[in-house]
Amino acid sequence: MSDPVDRLPQTRKSYESPTFDHPEVSPLALFRQWYDEAAGHVREPNAMTVSTLDEWGPSSRIVLLKGIDETGFMFFTDYDSAKGRQLRADPRVAVNFPWQDMERQVRIRGLAEEVAPEESDAYFAVRPRGSQIAASVSKQSQPVSGREQMQTEYDAAVAEFADTDVPRPGHWGGFRVRVFEIEFWQGQKNRFHDRWVFRRADGSHEPADLSQASAWSCVRLYP
Ligand SMILES: Cc1cc2nc3c(=O)[nH]c(=O)nc-3n(C[C@H](O)[C@H](O)[C@H](O)COP(=O)(O)O)c2cc1C
Repeated sequence: MSDPVDRLPQTRKSYESPTFDHPEVSPLALFRQWYDEAAGHVREPNAMTVSTLDEWGPSSRIVLLKGIDETGFMFFTDYDSAKGRQLRADPRVAVNFPWQDMERQVRIRGLAEEVAPEESDAYFAVRPRGSQIAASVSKQSQPVSGREQMQTEYDAAVAEFADTDVPRPGHWGGFRVRVFEIEFWQGQKNRFHDRWVFRRADGSHEPADLSQASAWSCVRLYP
């Protein structure tokens, strides 16, 4: 018996989804439809890979989508984390929803901007208290001496906020990914997949309103 890693060249899954024809709706409407379908089949369909840039190149990690509207895709994080600093220095960003259980992925390119403080306050307020406390003490992406140190700081914050709401720390908040390109990918037989990409109808790379079908042109790509 070989290990799964040794069998990688033979590891193959056939994709056989229904054909995916030219979408006649706005990118927002199509994303909402696909998200609804993913919600029934994919564990944590709101988990998305976010890729950022610094002087050494790209890096990516998973975060959770917390809202979407015509202006873009919202997630929350530590502004002083690696990704937070990278996005503040260079807002260019890529996002990927890997919905393999649906034989689908959605790929996004855009620019990230911080959400208004009131939006961050509103979401922070509905997080579980333990998560609020963790966000308060975590210096995300900084080295820490050990789990003990983390627990000591957590316990201190529990005591500090024993009689009050946990205030949103200034270093924690949301980003909105504003979109200039979004691709919908559906697996097909023989690796002859369907790909439809929405790009700006005027050829620009400025983010646009995702609900305005006329702002976008939709093109099929070879798989
Ligand atoms: C399923 C999943 C969901 C996650 N959601 C978030 C999130 O919403 N926000 C966040 O800051 N980190 C989230 N993380 C942790 C990030 O992947 C990452 O480890 C962390 O944000 C530090 O990244 P950075 O050092 O590149 O800034 C999640 C990780 C996983 C596996």
